Amino acid sequence: MTLEPIIAPSILSANFAALGDDVDAALAAGADWVHFDVMDNHYVPNLTIGPLVCEALRKHGVRAPIDVHLMIEPVDRIVPDFAAAGASLISFHPEASRHVHRTLQLIKAEGCQAGLVFNPATSLDTLEWLLDDLDLVLLMSVNPGFGGQAFIPATLDKLRRVRAMIDRSGKPIRLEVDGGVKPDNIAAIAAAGADTFVAGSAIFGAPDYAEVIARMRAEIDAGRGLLA
Ligand code: DX5
Ligand code: ZN
Repeated sequence: MTLEPIIAPSILSANFAALGDDVDAALAAGADWVHFDVMDNHYVPNLTIGPLVCEALRKHGVRAPIDVHLMIEPVDRIVPDFAAAGASLISFHPEASRHVHRTLQLIKAEGCQAGLVFNPATSLDTLEWLLDDLDLVLLMSVNPGFGGQAFIPATLDKLRRVRAMIDRSGKPIRLEVDGGVKPDNIAAIAAAGADTFVAGSAIFGAPDYAEVIARMRAEIDAGRGLLA
């Protein structure tokens, strides 16, 4: 089944000194979700934002789904805090949780949708056992930790492989891609089967958010045309 494309700007590249206004601007420009990158200086060598900032965005008035991408280890302790802070989806890296299935159940018990994230070098073995428990599969197309890196081309083959697994399952599981996504490669990424597109520097680094998001949507449609 083909799901409507979702564009999820990563606030890693937003203006942290005026975060609420910058997120409002991206949503007003046509973005669908807010991609919220959580880093702990342990699982990845960088440190960003936590549940307090998620809650602050909700209090500011953000109504769009907040797509929390946890790059932290361990995972479970912080899940209820993000659910209480207004997260809509929570994704984590399987190698960062000792009991991956339990963490998925915890996220759902807290009322959020659940996703698993795979690094460029992480195999997809877990999906054989857990796909049916997921709302979203997120493939990293860069090594996690920093915005503004170049898209790793091997991700396209991995996307095609996960696309086939999801199609076989017949379930409305989203296939998200994160890292180095730009207007000039998003058609190929869509053609490989992604339906949910994270973009940080490409959107927040652009002078006109609406113009770049519109260009991305047109390219996604072109890429999907290749599939049809
Ligand atoms: C990287 C983060 C990404 C990052 C993407 O660890 O998970 O969400 O912000 O940034 P760009 O789009 O600039 O590659
Ligand atoms: Zn991310």
